[in-house]
Amino acid sequence: MPEVKTRTHGELIRSRRPGHGMPGELFGRQDVFEADVGIFFHKHWILVGVTADVPEPGDVSTVNIGKASILIVRDDSENVRAYRNVCRHRGARLKEAGKSTVGMLVCPYHQWTYDLDGTLRHTTHMGKDFDATCRSLIPVHTRIVGAHIFVCLDENPPEDISKLETTMTLRFAPYDLQNTRIAFEQEFIENGNWKLVIENNRECYHCQATHPELTASFLPEDFGFCPDDLSDESRRALDEYKARNAECQVGWEREGFVAGAFEWLEEDAVTQFRTQQLVIAGAGESQTINTKVASTKLLGGLTRRDLGDTHLWTHNSWTHVMSDHAVISTIIPLAPDKTLVRTKWLVHADAVEGVDYTIPDLTEVWVATNAQDKHLVEITHEGTQDPAYVPGMFSPFTEVYVDQFSRWYAARLNAHGI
Ligand code: FES
Ligand code: FE
Repeated sequence: MPEVKTRTHGELIRSRRPGHGMPGELFGRQDVFEADVGIFFHKHWILVGVTADVPEPGDVSTVNIGKASILIVRDDSENVRAYRNVCRHRGARLKEAGKSTVGMLVCPYHQWTYDLDGTLRHTTHMGKDFDATCRSLIPVHTRIVGAHIFVCLDENPPEDISKLETTMTLRFAPYDLQNTRIAFEQEFIENGNWKLVIENNRECYHCQATHPELTASFLPEDFGFCPDDLSDESRRALDEYKARNAECQVGWEREGFVAGAFEWLEEDAVTQFRTQQLVIAGAGESQTINTKVASTKLLGGLTRRDLGDTHLWTHNSWTHVMSDHAVISTIIPLAPDKTLVRTKWLVHADAVEGVDYTIPDLTEVWVATNAQDKHLVEITHEGTQDPAYVPGMFSPFTEVYVDQFSRWYAARLNAHGI
């Protein structure tokens, strides 16, 4: 039998034809998955939660990322901090994944006890010469941007988080996202590779046929359209969109919003992201079926409802902030063919369920859209693992950001010597 040479991770991504999908092995192989987690989730900034996950001092949210685990804690001074979830004694996990409330962080094994600021406060049986001062919990680099909690597990985190921080702090400011609470959250596993989850999120080529709820409010024109086959109806819709977009952008900017598109995506971006205040169809208010607000208690001190959708993409998340609520999804890879997707719906901290909003109105669009996208990711993952799969060509109009993600992925691998 002639020896079959297995291509390396780097050879596989470099074999991708420009404008085409990735080879199937990049989605299915265990060694590729492990390298991906090591680079894209342990060395890059990732979104792991929102400040409303830990609303009160003593609240803890535990997030597992590959073999690593972190504790997100609200300390007694109301600061949000993050630590490695590893006891400084013999390494036991202090907390299992999920949320809890504590006075102090007590290791379940031998009860070493840590303050919420990470200091080792109490031990027994360790003798009088034991020095607790150098055994605080290991802190994790953390940046809070709006409600978003970004962490980087690497000792030398990419510095360009400052670009995201500066850009998004300004854009999120009117919505006062830290003064929100989680009205609803959803967590499920998609049986597909994390890169397919992100690829699916980076195009709306599929929206018209598969997302009837989302496309009631979402206008896919922002992310590309195909000028070749525009019907009269599509051309009219596009012209209307362009006029409306221009009018909205001017109106929002006049009121102090920063609305235009900002992209930090290409190969020199480490912490890649994209944002824009997008126009919403119909009443222009929110991502709901009737395109009006789902919560009558608007975010921050807002009085205007038709503020469109301030979106943010990163390489492990997507966010939509509207005048009345925000929807924030994060992903964590679990296996080559398994990706955890968490979605949180934020409303004003004082919004009352049943009075200001109802859960079905608030969540209908994205609960349906998430389920539809899960299915699309799963059938695509399966297809890419079929021996017959040959990476196909992206639409040069409506899949430009999918191609862009593939280029960024290749560049980041290259930067890490793969
Ligand atoms: Fe935590 Fe022993 S491992 S107290
Ligand atoms: Fe989708």
